[in-house]
Amino acid sequence: MGTSMEIQIVHSESADETFLIGRKLGRICQPGDIILLNGELGVGKTVFSKGFGEGLGIDEPISSPTFTLIQIYEGGRLPLYHFDVYRIADVWEMDEIGYEDYFFGNGVCLIEWAVRIEELLPEKTISVTIEKDLEKGFDYRRITIEGLDTEAIDENIRN
Ligand SMILES: Nc1ncnc2c1ncn2[C@@H]1O[C@H](COP(=O)(O)OP(=O)(O)O)[C@@H](O)[C@H]1O
Ligand SMILES: [Mg+2]
Repeated sequence: MGTSMEIQIVHSESADETFLIGRKLGRICQPGDIILLNGELGVGKTVFSKGFGEGLGIDEPISSPTFTLIQIYEGGRLPLYHFDVYRIADVWEMDEIGYEDYFFGNGVCLIEWAVRIEELLPEKTISVTIEKDLEKGFDYRRITIEGLDTEAIDENIRN
C-alpha cells in the first residue's frame, strides 16, 4: 500500500559501476526474490551478478554457470541460486534441475537470460534489463529496473 513500482532507469558508465549497482541490489534483496537479468551477450549481466554476490556477502567469486544452468552459493546472507539459461534448448531442462525448489525457496534467484524461460517465471519478479547505447559511449549501459519499489531504489541504488 502506498508503494510505487514505476519503472526505474539507472545509468552506468563502466563495468565497475554496474558491479556496484549489482552489489547494492544484493544488499537489499529478500528471501524468495527472483531477479530477472536480461540483455544481449556481453552487456554486463555477469558483471552485475558478481556485484550482486558480493552484496549478499558471498566470498567466492561468482562465475557464469553457462554449462550447468545453475550455480548455488551458500556462503552469504541468503542462498544465491545463480542461473544462466542462455544455452537452454527446452524449458524441460529446468524441470530436470528441479527449478521450483529454487524459485519458491528461501534464497534469492538471479537468472541471466530469463527471457528464454519466460513461461516458467512467476508473476512477482524483479526485472533488470541492461542495454548499450553506443551514442553514449562504448562503456555506457542503461539499466532498467522493474518490480522494486521506487523508494527502495532511491534510497539504496541511486546513492
Ligand atoms: N558499463 C558497463 N557495465 C558492465 N560491463 C561493461 C560496462 N562497460 C564495459 N563492460 C564490459 O562488458 C563486458 C560484460 O561482460 P559480461 O558481464 O560477461 O556480459 P554478459 O553476462 O551480459 O554476457 C565485460 O567485459 C565488461 O568489462
Ligand atoms: Mg553472462
